[in-house]
Amino acid sequence: MIMKEYISTESRGASEVASLFSEDAEAVIAPGDCLATLRTLPNGVAKLIITSPPYNIGKVYERATKLGEYLKSINPIIDELVRVLADDGSLCWQVGNYVEDGEVFPLDIFYYPFFKEHGFKLRNRIVWHFEHGLHASKRFSGRYETLLWFTKSDDYTFNLDPVRVPSKYPGKTHFKGEKRGQASGNPLGKNPSDIWRIIAQEWEQELWNIPNVKANHPEKTIHPCQFPIELVERCVFALTNERDWVLDPFSGVGSALLAALRNKRRAFGCEKELEYVEIARQRIGDLNTGKLRYRQLGKPVHQPTGREKVAQMPLEWRNLETKA
Ligand SMILES: C[S@@+](CC[C@H](N)C(=O)[O-])C[C@H]1O[C@@H](n2cnc3c(N)ncnc32)[C@H](O)[C@@H]1O
Repeated sequence: MIMKEYISTESRGASEVASLFSEDAEAVIAPGDCLATLRTLPNGVAKLIITSPPYNIGKVYERATKLGEYLKSINPIIDELVRVLADDGSLCWQVGNYVEDGEVFPLDIFYYPFFKEHGFKLRNRIVWHFEHGLHASKRFSGRYETLLWFTKSDDYTFNLDPVRVPSKYPGKTHFKGEKRGQASGNPLGKNPSDIWRIIAQEWEQELWNIPNVKANHPEKTIHPCQFPIELVERCVFALTNERDWVLDPFSGVGSALLAALRNKRRAFGCEKELEYVEIARQRIGDLNTGKLRYRQLGKPVHQPTGREKVAQMPLEWRNLETKA
């Protein structure tokens, strides 16, 4: 397994995660404000920048500001990210919606011009659909976030084979022409598409879905909005090669860094909350000792069995159903 190979060649512990960038490091977490840290990094060092920036939706770690003010505060950070991204590199910006007085502001739409002005090209607007979240009463409940994948140039890494998913009809053949009767698909599976979701489709057996990190997810820490490691892994496999640097300027409890380190990439994170930095260090230590709690891509989404305690439909609702 990839992780075991990694451990056999490396013996770092949580305390060996560096705090400052150096070419020799494997894992770095710089505590403090990311803008100050990014200014110290060399040009073009990161092959992949993947992050979920603070959303300004009133989580415990942020001061609620108006949307314009929020975007203005991120702009100088984007300038630095453009500088540190390799010419053949990718930037994945994962955001949800900002809601103010019941009005929804889709953050990816607001961010798009910022990156476009820097000459970036959008390769995919990935919709990440998940099942769990707050129930809205005056609009439909929000069940997706987006990931904008930009490249800096037309010359970029895209490894499709490691992220292929099982085909719906693997036995499908060409029905006409020279290849008539030959298999039309790819033996390694199909392209995972730009919708990464949880949908109960029998043929998929829910295997290639990516649940969000809620209370019963094995990766859950005290952080209110973690990346599932497997979400980042799909990007790491597709957009980088071994030994490349993966950078998360808002690294929280280190999920993106773990996705990189698990797969022989180098990882650099910035995080202003020291408590999260400590948890990230601990999780990297756990990775190295084989104790990391992790939900692997391709693992079936949990389905409650008949023997488990799950909420049952209240009796009075069942009666209502019968009357109707
Ligand atoms: C949406 S969370 C990212 C969580 C992360 N993806 C994970 O899996 O843990 C955003 C993080 O950015 C951090 N943050 C906000 N502003 C920052 C800044 N200026 N510099 C560094 N970190 C910052 C917050 O403390 C928070 O942990």
